[in-house]
Amino acid sequence: MRAFVRRRPWRPTTELIAEWLDGIQPAHKELLLIGGSAGWMMSSRWLQRFERIVLIDIDPFAPTLFRWNHGRALRQSSTRLEFLQCDALRDLEALLPAYPEASIFFDNVLGQHVYRVPDFDRAESELNQIAQRLSGRDWGSVHDLFSGPANPKTLPAKPVMSFVGTLSAQGLTVDGMIGTPLHRRLLDQVGGIDEWMDHVTSSVFPLGTHARLIAWPFVPTYVHWLQAGWVSAAPLITKDQI
Ligand SMILES: C[S@@+](CC[C@H](N)C(=O)[O-])C[C@H]1O[C@@H](n2cnc3c(N)ncnc32)[C@H](O)[C@@H]1O
Repeated sequence: MRAFVRRRPWRPTTELIAEWLDGIQPAHKELLLIGGSAGWMMSSRWLQRFERIVLIDIDPFAPTLFRWNHGRALRQSSTRLEFLQCDALRDLEALLPAYPEASIFFDNVLGQHVYRVPDFDRAESELNQIAQRLSGRDWGSVHDLFSGPANPKTLPAKPVMSFVGTLSAQGLTVDGMIGTPLHRRLLDQVGGIDEWMDHVTSSVFPLGTHARLIAWPFVPTYVHWLQAGWVSAAPLITKDQI
């Protein structure tokens, strides 16, 4: 309901995600769309590139709402849509070989892992293993990096909604942002105040991945910074291997 009501205020974020996806060339014509939900923030034009999409969600209502949002576009591109109701992170080991010719996209789902796994350290460790588990596959994700309260009155007149960052052994860095710590700069861009939540996703992507950081004003008083990245099927180096 919130996504439906806030479609308009979320549009700048949705458009930034769509622009980022426009630049992504998936290796396959099949897509495993994990946590796709109703696809409120997903780009129909990117979905149209695929011949077959397997929408995976724990929510049984996801396919009905997803068709409501994207059905017409998918019919135009003759894209087949299938639905699988399962816990994709728990069942990943079985899912990957079942769809060997599919690109995989985690659609704003990995940042929620910390809510589903009660132990914070375990959630982080499982997220840090994702890249290894997907080694050799073509995959991407958009997920929460940080989220927290914001004071709309302290929001800069023209907030910067997106940056390009790179994951290095020193953590996430953004070109041209030196001096002030990255998290402080990101908070300042959206009027962030008080204590923010770390969604422990900053090491999801392999080292060297270029990530786009996109602001998502969830409600006027609570903002998320999303991280979007794509990993083409290639040998990878993770932080643990340094
Ligand atoms: C923030 S919503 C995704 C929003 C969606 N991508 C969009 O554009 O509207 C996260 C979705 O992930 C689903 N989800 C959470 N954990 C999951 C898991 N382990 N496996 C499959 N789906 C999951 C939730 O049911 C929810 O629909």
